[in-house]
Amino acid sequence: MVDFLFLCLRIKTENSAVELNAYIFPYGYKPFTLRVQGEPMNLADKIVKLKNEKKAIILAHNYQRPEIQDIADYIGDSIELSRKAMEEKDARIIVFSAVDFMAESAAILNPEKKVLLPVLGARCPMAQMLTVEEIKRSKSQHPHVPVVLYVNTLAAAKAECDICCTSANAAEIVSSVHSNTVLFGPDRNLAEYVERKTGKKVIPIPEWGFCPTHLLFQPEDVQILKTQHPEAVVMVHPECTFEMDKVADFVGSTSQMCRYARESKAKTFIVGTEEGVLHRLKKDNPAKKFFLAYDGAVCPNMKLNTLERVYASLKEEKHVVTVPEPIAKNARKALERMLELK
Ligand code: 13P
Ligand code: SF4
Repeated sequence: MVDFLFLCLRIKTENSAVELNAYIFPYGYKPFTLRVQGEPMNLADKIVKLKNEKKAIILAHNYQRPEIQDIADYIGDSIELSRKAMEEKDARIIVFSAVDFMAESAAILNPEKKVLLPVLGARCPMAQMLTVEEIKRSKSQHPHVPVVLYVNTLAAAKAECDICCTSANAAEIVSSVHSNTVLFGPDRNLAEYVERKTGKKVIPIPEWGFCPTHLLFQPEDVQILKTQHPEAVVMVHPECTFEMDKVADFVGSTSQMCRYARESKAKTFIVGTEEGVLHRLKKDNPAKKFFLAYDGAVCPNMKLNTLERVYASLKEEKHVVTVPEPIAKNARKALERMLELK
């Protein structure tokens, strides 16, 4: 006869399986295991669980794969993601599912946080097109002319400029600069768009900078789509050529397109930007139709991010994005000037 019974239950859950271990005293040390096997946890659920455990948030650009957009805490264009990264207080880790310059901006604007870029190779080719040497050379050729740089630049380039801009605010930023001439880089198409919008002289640096993905859009494809959907509204990104601009009803950043489509009475849209944005457009507007202006418009760099790589990045806390403080200090000023204005 015993006057007490001690029961110890250990519950372990993994991949939705529940494992029970019981130790019953005084009847001996007889653990038993009851396995209640459920559906194995999918990768998206694992990421969500891990990010909660690690106090992490996932910021994803509008061009990310649908399955990444669906688990992100926030989806946006470059300016929205920069703001979000700067204002983030609670998270310990920011996983930036996008390309190098966006994660770098987050690290510059919020040095307290650990910023992770899931894939080191996710580098925007346009950002590589403007070197510090090129900026210095242009400055010496045009002394006293302010330098406005698109955020699609590396931190070292940003550190050499007066103010940054994104595709959402480029014209407003150039208008706000007290000079009728500006040096602007690296996207020549955006520089020309800004020149048309502001009437200022916009000197592109380098002369030939471009986005390989947006260069794929051609007005001929829009004309073909228009014959099939004559009522369609055409939205294009300012990184597209002037020829695309001429056939567009609306020119704007990726999130500005999302807003425009949401608020528009139109039911059909032809979209001139990277295909990833169509996921968000369709999700936000289930009753509307969206057609990509060119089927092959994929940014391979943005698409290097996959669910598997986001998971590995979060699990191993790699790849940490850091910017040396002397560079970060100047780049931060240029980014903050932009964020204060618009
Ligand atoms: P948005 O800021 O419009 O999202 O554009 C970023 C980008 O890389 C466009 O190619
Ligand atoms: Fe860079 Fe173009 Fe890709 Fe945007 S779409 S990240 S500008 S290569």
